Amino acid sequence: MTTGKIILNNGVEMPQLGFGTINQFGEQITDNVAFALNHGYQLIDTANRYGNEVEVGKGLKKSGLPRESYFLETKLGPTLYENDNAIDDTLKRLDVDYIDLMILHHPVNNYIYAYKMLEKAYKEGKLRAIGISNFPVEKIQEILDQCEIVPAVMQVECHPYYPAEKVKPFCDEKGIRLQAWFPLGHGNANLLNDPVIVKLAEKYNKSTVQVIIRWHIQMGFGLVPGSKSYAHIEDNAKVFDFALTEEEMAEIATLNKHEPFYHVTEESLHRMAVTKCNFEE
Ligand SMILES: NC(=O)c1ccc[n+]([C@@H]2O[C@H](COP(=O)([O-])OP(=O)(O)OC[C@H]3O[C@@H](n4cnc5c(N)ncnc54)[C@H](OP(=O)(O)O)[C@@H]3O)[C@@H](O)[C@H]2O)c1
Repeated sequence: MTTGKIILNNGVEMPQLGFGTINQFGEQITDNVAFALNHGYQLIDTANRYGNEVEVGKGLKKSGLPRESYFLETKLGPTLYENDNAIDDTLKRLDVDYIDLMILHHPVNNYIYAYKMLEKAYKEGKLRAIGISNFPVEKIQEILDQCEIVPAVMQVECHPYYPAEKVKPFCDEKGIRLQAWFPLGHGNANLLNDPVIVKLAEKYNKSTVQVIIRWHIQMGFGLVPGSKSYAHIEDNAKVFDFALTEEEMAEIATLNKHEPFYHVTEESLHRMAVTKCNFEE
């Protein structure tokens, strides 16, 4: 049975299951972060761009838990890639002394300069690990060629319909661990009601979401499912009391549609490059 932990390439231990905080604001996200940390999650994922780091930070405090008992992760927004104060400002917004993992949100703008800022903060002890998100293989290779520290984590769209196959072999070879965004396909009804997943949910007396989360765990992925519902948040963490067989994992592998839900285009990359964080306005 898995422990639900990943040892990153610098020796830091990262919980596999995290709570994603996109599109949640104010008291809602403060309460949900505190609730998640008290109901089976030890990792919280946010981003400069989500516009909720202050409220996420309040949720961490509201949990009543000591700082070292959870793993805090955030993403540097692309409009801040050449802002030398951006990491210190993030620490202030979250009201913490250190961040467990900081990643570059998108492969746009001056991401080499930004990655070097992460490296500097890592060496200063402000970040325990550094990584990237949404980088195609050739841009990860640029980071490897031009920077010093191999990214510990790459966050990418990943679920049974698209198991991140474009980057997985490369990242596996380089020791970069994958962490899934849209781990539930953004709640896609076809995925959540897929007959193969439904059959396994019935067999194990689990929800289809729990089966999908269990698949991520056994694939060795990190994942940050989101939810606005206390009931879902709590249920989604109950995945460490059953295991899919090798045959069942192989059956889920047949669901691969080789297509992400989210398609990167020139236009979407431009939007990622220019959209400011709410605190920049
Ligand atoms: N790096 C990036 O570029 C990037 C991009 C997108 C997202 N992310 C990260 O990934 C996280 C997750 O993304 P996401 O929330 O969009 O997608 P997701 O986790 O794949 O799916 C969330 C959806 O699933 C539903 N859901 C959750 N548990 C459920 C359950 N037990 N039963 C039925 N439905 C359930 C939620 O609805 P309810 O609210 O009703 O539970 C919500 O609609 C984000 O919070 C963010 O941290 C990163």
